[in-house]
Amino acid sequence: MKALVCEAYGPVENLVYRDLPDPVPGAGEILVAVRAIGVNFTDGLLVEGKYQARPPCPFAPGSEVSGDVIALGAGVNDFKVGDRVLSLTTRFGAYAEKIALPATAANKLPPFMNYDQGAALLGATGTAHHALRQRGRLQAGETLVVLGAAGGTGCAAVQIGKAIGARVIAVCSSDEKIAFAKAQGADEGINYSREDLNQAIKRLTDGRGADVVYDAVGGDAFDACSRAMAWDGRLLIVGFASGRIPTLPVNLTLVKGYAVIGVFWGAFTEKEPAAHAANMRELFGWIETGQVKPVIDAVFPLRDGIAAIKKVTGRDVMGKVIVKP
Ligand SMILES: NC(=O)c1ccc[n+]([C@@H]2O[C@H](COP(=O)([O-])OP(=O)(O)OC[C@H]3O[C@@H](n4cnc5c(N)ncnc54)[C@H](OP(=O)(O)O)[C@@H]3O)[C@@H](O)[C@H]2O)c1
Repeated sequence: MKALVCEAYGPVENLVYRDLPDPVPGAGEILVAVRAIGVNFTDGLLVEGKYQARPPCPFAPGSEVSGDVIALGAGVNDFKVGDRVLSLTTRFGAYAEKIALPATAANKLPPFMNYDQGAALLGATGTAHHALRQRGRLQAGETLVVLGAAGGTGCAAVQIGKAIGARVIAVCSSDEKIAFAKAQGADEGINYSREDLNQAIKRLTDGRGADVVYDAVGGDAFDACSRAMAWDGRLLIVGFASGRIPTLPVNLTLVKGYAVIGVFWGAFTEKEPAAHAANMRELFGWIETGQVKPVIDAVFPLRDGIAAIKKVTGRDVMGKVIVKP
């Protein structure tokens, strides 16, 4: 099968489009003919050797796929050949024509979703959903500030914040990205390349600050938000797309009475499978009614996967990027 292969850790440009042996499903695994691959920020970090996981080379990066089940490993009862599935594993191997996955890491793709939407869903939307429901306990009527609101997971946080009934303030680096976030439902926008973020949040909340901040950016934006939280607020730590993991003077949390809460969706799906299953039911319900909709910015063929990854890591994406074998 064809795959986009990391032969040695290094720049994304070094990935090679070439043949790899077909994977064979082990016990408890399904073999999937990949129809679409979701590009995630971590795909670039993985091949550069900057991610926690370091699979042995050569390997195909990527963890988010949709496709058709074409073979079953021993002991798989929940799927049959021909099922349409979506999956996000903590593993690698998605930038390929076929992938073997643990059956427990797959969901059936609902009939109202196509393959591209399936591959665009979990990493971005699953994370935003878990963050706002379980970690942030976001309530209708509260003010949610979303950093990186035009990016993959930020865009999902805007949509889910509105589905929950919050007032959503989108924070982006350009007016074009703010217009996009407003098209996803955001009530207000802050262009933080032009306006002081701390002051702007206070201006839009009559000085109260944000009830919940969804932060997948980190760095200076985190620093600003840590000074613009409302009493009893929740500052959600999702990622560090800016490249800097911030540090916090913890006296701010004491004085302002807010909580800083870590979000790790992949670990949540493994440690709390029942809560994850309930989340998926709620999420699919929102998608069926149109309240939540994966937004696809661009689709690349697998042989051009390098350009797809660079579009995401290069701050040039609104919604999600998809790669297709
Ligand atoms: N904790 C979890 O379970 C979990 C799950 C999924 C993703 N994540 C993490 O969340 C982060 C965002 O993921 P994503 O898929 O939403 O990425 P994305 O689509 O690339 O969006 C990231 C956003 O960050 C902002 N940004 C600020 N400085 C940046 C820089 N130097 N380079 C790139 N972007 C920058 C950009 O918005 P502006 O241009 O508007 O500033 C961009 O839209 C990543 O760190 C990812 O690893 C965590």
